[in-house]
Amino acid sequence: MEITGTQLISAKRAAVWAALNDPAALQQCIQGCERFEAMGPGQWLAVVMAAVGPVKARFTGTVSLHDIEPLAGYRLRGQGQGGVAGFGQLEARVRLSDEGGDTRLDYTAQAQVGGKLAQIGSRLVSGAAKKMADQFFSAFNALLSGGGLVAFAPVRAEAASSAPDEELALVQLKVNGRPVERRVEARTLLVEFLRKDLGLTGTHVGCDTTQCGACTVNLDGLAVKSCTVLAAQASGGQVVTIEGLAPPDGLHPLQQAFNHCHALQCGFCTPGMIMAADGLLRSGCAVDDAAIEHALEGNLCRCTGYVHIIDAVKHAARQMGRPTGEGVAS
Ligand code: FES
Ligand code: FES
Repeated sequence: MEITGTQLISAKRAAVWAALNDPAALQQCIQGCERFEAMGPGQWLAVVMAAVGPVKARFTGTVSLHDIEPLAGYRLRGQGQGGVAGFGQLEARVRLSDEGGDTRLDYTAQAQVGGKLAQIGSRLVSGAAKKMADQFFSAFNALLSGGGLVAFAPVRAEAASSAPDEELALVQLKVNGRPVERRVEARTLLVEFLRKDLGLTGTHVGCDTTQCGACTVNLDGLAVKSCTVLAAQASGGQVVTIEGLAPPDGLHPLQQAFNHCHALQCGFCTPGMIMAADGLLRSGCAVDDAAIEHALEGNLCRCTGYVHIIDAVKHAARQMGRPTGEGVAS
């Protein structure tokens, strides 16, 4: 799908150009943008909560600039993963020119979507994309018209100036209660960081494309697929992997329950299943069949089947005194 548009922005071209290169300014103008951080010159990490028709998800991804012509325009490429919601890719050409005392901005964007997003129909998706573009430029215009540029936060000095040839990123995390700090390639996925840099191989990789859930870990209290998150994105956060779930003196109730209910055979999916189920138990929701099915819908098991797995999660919930919607303790 292609989106085109023209905006007349009430500001000088130099100010518009500066804002188009300022992650703090861009973040303010993207509705639902939770993070927009420089990874290096012309490269940004973005986390955006977006709703397209019935599909609502947090998309994480990267944005990079190409064919940069200072004060005249650039080509922008972005891609984001929204877990089971699917993925989106965008390539946009942005051109600036003077018009009176203002700046004319022309853009042409090609977007592609996959997964659930692709199933809801191109008309709905293109309508949502056009709406997002309109909201962005309306906010962008308001920001510049109000002289807000002087208030923009500067690009983080470290990210902008220290990116060496390999584009390293500093990752600082608390993993299973222990602080860790490493400098890794900016493109390193959280799952790679855990397995290769920290040796925590209990987190598995079954697909690398956000489909199997074998890589699920807890990040800041939420179950996330660590093949969908860059290690640099998680920096500053707290991660719990399957190795850190159990108390020092035994197994976690979920681990006991998977054993008790025969909820595994080869065990490949089990760490991800347990971490996803842990996310459900932490949420405080009633742990009934529907909630378990929803919590585990992004986790695939290729040998055990789901009946025993669901039984195990309910068993653990009872052992932990969590509501199961049954009102009966085993
Ligand atoms: S390895 Fe992450 S979802 Fe499959
Ligand atoms: S126990 Fe083998 S894939 Fe789930």
